Amino acid sequence: MSANKDMNLTLKIWRQKDAQSKGKLTTYQVSNISPDSSFLEMLDVLNEELINKGEDPVAFDHDCREGICGMCSLHINGEPHGPDRLITTCQLHMRKFKDGDTIYIEPWRAKAFPVLKDLIVDRSSFERIQQAGGFISVNTSGNTQDANAIPIPKVNADKAMDAATCIGCGACVAACKNSSAMLFVSAKVSQFALLPQGRVEAKDRVLNMVKAMDDEGFGNCTNTGACEVECPKGISLENIARMNREYLSATFG
Ligand code: SF4
Ligand code: FES
Repeated sequence: MSANKDMNLTLKIWRQKDAQSKGKLTTYQVSNISPDSSFLEMLDVLNEELINKGEDPVAFDHDCREGICGMCSLHINGEPHGPDRLITTCQLHMRKFKDGDTIYIEPWRAKAFPVLKDLIVDRSSFERIQQAGGFISVNTSGNTQDANAIPIPKVNADKAMDAATCIGCGACVAACKNSSAMLFVSAKVSQFALLPQGRVEAKDRVLNMVKAMDDEGFGNCTNTGACEVECPKGISLENIARMNREYLSATFG
């Protein structure tokens, strides 16, 4: 049981019937919210009340609820994944707020992430970027070399692993004033660029993924760094610099 007092809150939530409709902020009150509950559990309480009243519950994305899948995607009081650092929305606790607070809850805002309903956006643009090059081709003839038999400098293995922790949530895009997807794409390029298995297709990968990113309508990077600040996995801007080097050498190399 929590030693802290339960909270009464005012929520201003973006409601939008479907992709074609115009949306608007709607005000709701929730009472007796435990500071130990998660942000999504607080929304579950609201939705249960709405369903009991015969109203349409608020649509929001979630799956694992433990910071792994990248599905949860809320803009909370103007910040992707809310006021805490290095966590996803599903890992945000209500103790970060105070009794009587008003909380603004909106979907990711970006042309390449159109709103489908309420707080759910279409992030299939990320999947199409991945399909353009976020993989390696391996001959599985039965004579495949064991990956562990290939020596890799520890520093590169660690950086590749750090890049691979990107969960594709899209907070970097939502945080960026240009709606740039550079942090996401650079993490996906870097996780392969740093490893010998990824070098074989490195040139095509970076050219194709950057082209897919541009085709999807993401904005340009102007090095403001908001993406790195809001990324729940701490993906470093160093990856963007690496992707730019990869791109230049693929273009002129
Ligand atoms: S780089 Fe960070 S913020 Fe962007 S999609 Fe990956 S995990 Fe999410
Ligand atoms: S629901 Fe999976 S990361 Fe939040």
